[in-house]
Amino acid sequence: MQALIRGGGRLIDTASTYGDAEIVLGKVTAAAGVRDKLFIATKLESPDAQELKRSLARLKTARVDLLQLHNVTSKQQSLERFREWKRQGVCRYVGITSTSRRDYPAVEAVLKREKPDFVQIDYSLDNRGAEKGILPLAAEVRAGVLTAVPYGNGRLFRLVHGKELPDWARVFANSWGQFFLKYLLGDPRVTAVIPGTGDPGHMTDNAGAMRGPLPDPDQRRRMIEFIESL
Ligand SMILES: NC(=O)c1ccc[n+]([C@@H]2O[C@H](COP(=O)([O-])OP(=O)(O)OC[C@H]3O[C@@H](n4cnc5c(N)ncnc54)[C@H](OP(=O)(O)O)[C@@H]3O)[C@@H](O)[C@H]2O)c1
Repeated sequence: MQALIRGGGRLIDTASTYGDAEIVLGKVTAAAGVRDKLFIATKLESPDAQELKRSLARLKTARVDLLQLHNVTSKQQSLERFREWKRQGVCRYVGITSTSRRDYPAVEAVLKREKPDFVQIDYSLDNRGAEKGILPLAAEVRAGVLTAVPYGNGRLFRLVHGKELPDWARVFANSWGQFFLKYLLGDPRVTAVIPGTGDPGHMTDNAGAMRGPLPDPDQRRRMIEFIESL
């Protein structure tokens, strides 16, 4: 977390179901006194007041920045309760998440009807299904986009293992991590990328993707061709 803040990062995404993650995050932010420097996003499995209360207690905060309904699976899911909590000041923004292609129709229906502030979706250089329906729709309803699993859970690093970053990419990226993240950040509809890491060196590397030029549409097409050629 120190590496994140030093690198200029603010957003931490967690969930009520991520083991002890909320507990650890709450302890560390309270001990370091950095709650105000962070944008904390968490997720609930359902609009359940008990689950919310537990998350806030674990995170040691009176309000989270973003409260997301985790893994939308049905077109009928409502954000009414979440919006009520937003009105009460329990969260600044409400959102939905999914990392399952099968559930995209439900995500699209909920996005259209509920118009959440954010949608979190799996999106990486080798997993671009969100580009078809979800990203245009997010732009239409003016929802911010967080990219879950931006490295395909490490799959992209395995794909380029032992390979040098091509010269044409060094114009905008200093590492493979930055290459993969900047592909996503180069899409104006993407608000933030949320790579997962337990390694402070990787955190610093990832934070570096917030600086310097982003690939333009031609460079982004070249990135896709490159990855598809592997
Ligand atoms: N349904 C949902 O809402 C949902 C589902 C899944 C994920 N998510 C969100 O998406 C976040 C990211 O997903 P994820 O962690 O599963 O996958 P990911 O970010 O695509 O990949 C994480 C993997 O990449 C490695 N890595 C990270 N930075 C690196 C770097 N600079 N260089 C080399 N390796 C690097 C990590 O290893 P090290 O630890 O060694 O760095 C780890 O093995 C989650 O934390 C969560 O917030 C949401």
